[in-house]
Amino acid sequence: MVKENDNLMEKIVSLCKRRGFVFPGSEIYGGLANSFDYGPLGVELKNNIKNLWWKRFVQQRDDMVGIDAALIMNPKVWEKSGHLKEFHDSLMQCRKCNSIFRDDEIPDFVVGPNFNVNDLKNLKCPKCSQKGNFTSPTLFNLMFETNLGPVKDNKSKVYFRPETAQAMFVDFKNVLETSRKKIPFGIAQIGKAFRNEITPGNFIFRTREFEQMEIEYFIKENEWEKWFEYWQKEMQNWMIDVLGLNKKHIHELEVPDDERAHYSKRTIDFEYDFPFGKEELYGLAYRTDFDLKNHYKEEPYQDAETGEKIYPHVVEPTFGVDRSVLAVLCDAYVEEKDPAEDGASRVVLKLKTSLAPYKAAVFPLLANKPELVKLAREIYDDLRKDFMVAFDDRGNIGKRYYSQDEIGTPYCITVDFGSLENGDVTIRNRDTMKQERVKVSELNSFLNGKL
Ligand code: GAP
Repeated sequence: MVKENDNLMEKIVSLCKRRGFVFPGSEIYGGLANSFDYGPLGVELKNNIKNLWWKRFVQQRDDMVGIDAALIMNPKVWEKSGHLKEFHDSLMQCRKCNSIFRDDEIPDFVVGPNFNVNDLKNLKCPKCSQKGNFTSPTLFNLMFETNLGPVKDNKSKVYFRPETAQAMFVDFKNVLETSRKKIPFGIAQIGKAFRNEITPGNFIFRTREFEQMEIEYFIKENEWEKWFEYWQKEMQNWMIDVLGLNKKHIHELEVPDDERAHYSKRTIDFEYDFPFGKEELYGLAYRTDFDLKNHYKEEPYQDAETGEKIYPHVVEPTFGVDRSVLAVLCDAYVEEKDPAEDGASRVVLKLKTSLAPYKAAVFPLLANKPELVKLAREIYDDLRKDFMVAFDDRGNIGKRYYSQDEIGTPYCITVDFGSLENGDVTIRNRDTMKQERVKVSELNSFLNGKL
């Protein structure tokens, strides 16, 4: 567990809805199972994560380029990638309560070739506890289908991409020709992926529509172990240095042979201690030359120096965006006593400044003093040119602080009568709750220094 905090998940879901991070999708129509919309603060947090990732892994590197590909690709992509044949979950239904489960969700079920139909007798339904009343496992392809154009037949059948990765392989040749990169180099993409999950759940942890940030890093075969280790470290640094996750909440799982995806020769899952248990946050896979070989049968890559024709091998670091948001929220959520307020307790999102939706909030000490409101508005308008900043003149200062703490705003700037005379303001730090006076003219560089 992340921390000893009863109902942490419920509290986070409630905070997300109340403060506009994440809403249930289509709520006025009763919602749509496990679909969620990011609200005004959620989209800022999510964009901050995506932008930091893009900057770090694409823009600041010489060996990486980005793409933004179509969500619907030629169905041959999914034939060649093996997804049509292999991208299945095995599902079972309890005949008594009709609940459907992935087989790995049923306690004591032996997944894989050791499955024995007689074992079904001993399995207990996790929902209604009925024993021995399951259907045999059946395979269910997770890709969403739709039709291209007005005629709905097999010829027009297409799929929403179940991973962003394939576009990096399919566009490999175009990227090579236009960017003139040589291996080792990577292609990165951030975008939506779709999976018709049998049992979505746990808020934004497992949904049917989600976002991925993926890198396909192309290398020589004999260097795959070196690059695997390199990306393992890069992923660790991202989680700890950029997302600010507590190291203790992150675990690495070497995925065993019979549980790896069909394309992978080695996979590490990075797991995080979510409030509902230790679950996969990200993955790192050695995809060999599986994908390029299948897509470019007749056209291997030609090494610029040696002229040798080879299929580059691939190490793939993959990062779920929505799971990043959830892990960041779980790690940042703190309930604590406010020493300044005689035992009152507050909820704080201790987000890194770079991730926080608002970097600062500006308050006039009193809402009914036009001269204070005017200066506060001027400061707000000025800072807004460079930072996401909030303005609040409702209620008393204490309530405004708590309101900003709950959404993770690291700095609250209060304009008081001293500000009119001396040109300075009070800045209150979210985490320490300490206050300091800073010149209005220095606010911009103060905030810049914290980013
Ligand atoms: N290209 C490799 C790939 O797609 P994956 O482990 O199936 O690998 C990568 O997915 C990441 O995408 C996961 O580690 C997770 O962060 C995220 N992800 C996968 N399925 C998801 C779902 N149903 N809802 C939210 N995120 C999901």
